[in-house]
Amino acid sequence: SDTLDLIAADDLAPGEAMQVEAGGLTLAVFRVADEFYVTDDHCTHGPGLLHEGCLTGYEIECDFHQGSFDVRTGEVIEPPCTIPVKVYPTVLRDGRVLIEV
Ligand code: FES
Repeated sequence: SDTLDLIAADDLAPGEAMQVEAGGLTLAVFRVADEFYVTDDHCTHGPGLLHEGCLTGYEIECDFHQGSFDVRTGEVIEPPCTIPVKVYPTVLRDGRVLIEV
């Protein structure tokens, strides 16, 4: 598999999220304590962008209709979302956050 280099770990504070475009993908990168999780940024329910949502622990709540996902697995936590969001395995290497695609 290929890896994509997204950001420096220091670019994102704990509890924060940001959008990263890489490899033709529009991604949301989440930091929970010192762990990083990456999903597609587009909500599977509609036009919401997950990096603009509210991150509480491992739960990202889309601010469009308040559906939510677990950033670790992409599984739906709260409706109206029904379709999981795609997650990408992350790797921390030399202070950088990479994903496998
Ligand atoms: Fe995200 Fe509807 S667009 S919950």
